[in-house]
Amino acid sequence: MDILNLIITAVWFIFPAYVANAVPVLFGKAFKGRWPMDFGKTWNKKPVLGKGKTWPGFFGGILIGTIVGILQGRILAGLLLSIGALVGDLVKSAAKRRFGIVSGKPWPIIDQLDFIIGALLFVSIVELPSIATIIIVLVLTPVFHVATNTIAYLLKIKKVWY
Ligand code: CTP
Ligand code: MG
Repeated sequence: MDILNLIITAVWFIFPAYVANAVPVLFGKAFKGRWPMDFGKTWNKKPVLGKGKTWPGFFGGILIGTIVGILQGRILAGLLLSIGALVGDLVKSAAKRRFGIVSGKPWPIIDQLDFIIGALLFVSIVELPSIATIIIVLVLTPVFHVATNTIAYLLKIKKVWY
């Protein structure tokens, strides 16, 4: 298999997770400040998760990501990639808050890979990714992420380009 084939295989494999991760950015704007997943609660005077994590974002991401998986003919993988992506993102936000980083402030690399790591771990229950897929996805995602966020920023969907 040549490199282009490996890249297409990797992107196809992870695609529902990309969608699941992108949906809340669009949903989040509509539900700004409403239905926070941490119910506005704090822990040691810091938000548990912060305003950036909402229930509509969480379930909207899982729903649409799973639909993408169904369209790919991989319902269970689609569901696990989507849940893993959203859970990975939540774990990252909880960690950021514990380090005192306010919602929306960047944590480079980790902000880009949180959902991928969650998705890869969860999907491994039903579809084990190849080493090539893991490496390609980890390398390409930060590049894709900055590119799509720049587009979202230019469209005024996101406040910052990263
Ligand atoms: N979002 C949401 N619900 C989620 C995840 C994301 O509503 N479960 C929306 C929010 O509007 C959020 C946006 O998607 O602001 C971008 O998500 P992300 O970059 O992960 O959150 P941040 O706001 O940057 O917060 P954090 O510092 O916790 O990463
Ligand atoms: Mg962020």
